[in-house]
Amino acid sequence: MNLKTSLRTHTCGELGKKDVNKKIKLCGWLSSRRDHGGVIFIDLRDRYGLTQIVFDPRFSKNCHKEADSLRREDCIKVHGLVKNRKKDMENKKLKTGEIEVFISELEVLNKSKVPPIEIDDRLVASEDTRLKYRYLDLRRPVMQHNLIMRARAAKNVRDFLTKEDFIEIETPFFVKATPEGARDFIVPSRVNPGKFYALPQSPQLYKQILMVAGFDRYFQLARCMRDEDLRSDRQPEFTQIDLEMSFVDQDDIFKICEGVANSAVKELTGKETKLPFNRITYKEAIDKYGVDKPDLRFGLELKDVTKIVENSDFSVFKNVIKDKGIVKCLPVDYNFGRNELDNLIDFCVKEGAKGMAWLRIKDQKVEGNIAKFFDDKVQKELIKESEIKQGYLFFIADNEKTTNRILSLLRNKLGKDLKLCKEGEFAFCWVVDFPLFEWNDEEQKWDPAHHMFTMPKEEFWDVIEKHPEKVIAKCYDLVLNGVELGSGSIRIHRKDIQEKVMNVVGFSKKEAEKRFGFLNNAFEYGAPVHGGFAFGFDRLVTILLGLEDIREIIAFPKNKAAQSPMDGSPSEVDEKQLKELNIKLDILKKKQ
Ligand code: AMO
Ligand code: AMP
Repeated sequence: MNLKTSLRTHTCGELGKKDVNKKIKLCGWLSSRRDHGGVIFIDLRDRYGLTQIVFDPRFSKNCHKEADSLRREDCIKVHGLVKNRKKDMENKKLKTGEIEVFISELEVLNKSKVPPIEIDDRLVASEDTRLKYRYLDLRRPVMQHNLIMRARAAKNVRDFLTKEDFIEIETPFFVKATPEGARDFIVPSRVNPGKFYALPQSPQLYKQILMVAGFDRYFQLARCMRDEDLRSDRQPEFTQIDLEMSFVDQDDIFKICEGVANSAVKELTGKETKLPFNRITYKEAIDKYGVDKPDLRFGLELKDVTKIVENSDFSVFKNVIKDKGIVKCLPVDYNFGRNELDNLIDFCVKEGAKGMAWLRIKDQKVEGNIAKFFDDKVQKELIKESEIKQGYLFFIADNEKTTNRILSLLRNKLGKDLKLCKEGEFAFCWVVDFPLFEWNDEEQKWDPAHHMFTMPKEEFWDVIEKHPEKVIAKCYDLVLNGVELGSGSIRIHRKDIQEKVMNVVGFSKKEAEKRFGFLNNAFEYGAPVHGGFAFGFDRLVTILLGLEDIREIIAFPKNKAAQSPMDGSPSEVDEKQLKELNIKLDILKKKQ
């Protein structure tokens, strides 16, 4: 590739032995400088690499003098002559390490103030400083690498889906609220006083309408906005690889999504994934791992021992079982020290457990301070159920939800602490057969577990209203290394089924008409059987690059308080602007 421009003949990452004795021009940032015996050596940096440039008074007296005032991160342009480095000065680790450039002309394009953060991958500043000076943080080679890899992944996905005959179609940013379940960001309409657009939580309704419109295969790298509490894998705006297909069932969608994921893995890591991905039902995931997003890079399966310990004398367990709770244990083949055990108990209690009981299995016997409550028969049954010959059993007794939640967190912690995952391993799995509804304890009502347009499996069509708790949906999640990477479903294309679902979640016809009327109208004109999926693109790239936080692969993310320290958003707006929008901040003023 020729990156020559009017200001430079080469980039900082390409000169080598082949260029010796050439007169060249470079532009870049001053990365570091060393003064040796009256000669100034500078590493000049750009996106492509580093080149050592030399200001030697014997080569150019003027330049050497000018170079004296150069400081870190100054942006400069230089003319010079490429020379071989002395043999013992070669740097094999650097692409340009065999040469250096003797400078005959220097132009300072823009001087830099003393940078508040080091442009050095080994020295990472605090989060807010990084975000405030994001332009400097992004100069760090690792951040440049991350964003370049993100762009490569995006291109790869586009190429893959385009080859599969998917059409990329943009859907609007100013929409009617979409139903993903988070809070909406809303935008006032000046020309429609008192009315608001919502920013899309996903293109869900629009992509379904595109199926009614006959596009058959749609995709989009879609920006989505959700007003929710932020975490390391959640931003208020993020990107989905969003797709929808007509005349398909679950397996057809899985095949395409596996292709997308495999292709991205290959592009970013050079590895192949094992196809097809494992599948596990929601029930099996909860039973064995306590969560619907199990990390399958390691074993450690939970065992429900309610039936076994019912017959023990341990009142903690018996009381929980009497209150319709359960007892599960996590068998771990490892010898923990006393301190380690105490730390694990603290961990569980901090996460909301009432306690964590343990037993040690040694020589076909169980030991520990609660062993005395379990007679021989119970002990034998526990050892058999645990499927380990020696090690520890960690017990949680509580209601089903809490027991599973705590043990799944403990399982993940032990997976990490005991280094049970190999570096660079990618364990994809489909979680299928989700329930269609989930019980909302706070509001004492059924909510859609995914969203309102998810198709129940045929065998449950007749019991949707009678037994909502039994209904299994054609809904699926893709999980990667314990992270929910994406989800999707086959959609309801029949009015009668849609109405039943709305009845269960307590959506009146009037309300449905108000919120999704346009979708229902579209469905009255020959809606095809259709379904789709959306990958969290930020999460995919983050995991494939072996990172922990999606902000590492987003150019301008928000901090944990949903603010951008760089541009100071969100910020107040002028009274005049508010007036034009017919907005008054009365409530806020009263609060202050
Ligand atoms: P869902 O709401 O599960 O499904 O979102 C799909 C995927 O998007 C990612 N994701 C996020 N990533 C970063 N920050 C966030 N705040 C965030 N929220 C979600 C996750 C998630 O799995 N319309 C449906 C898909 C469909 O049915 O086709 C949807 O949006 O990786
Ligand atoms: P206690 O009777 O509260 O002193 O608890 C005896 C042991 O049982 C301690 O090791 C506690 O950590 C543990 N324990 C207490 N409550 C629970 C629970 N709900 N689940 C599992 N272990 C518990």
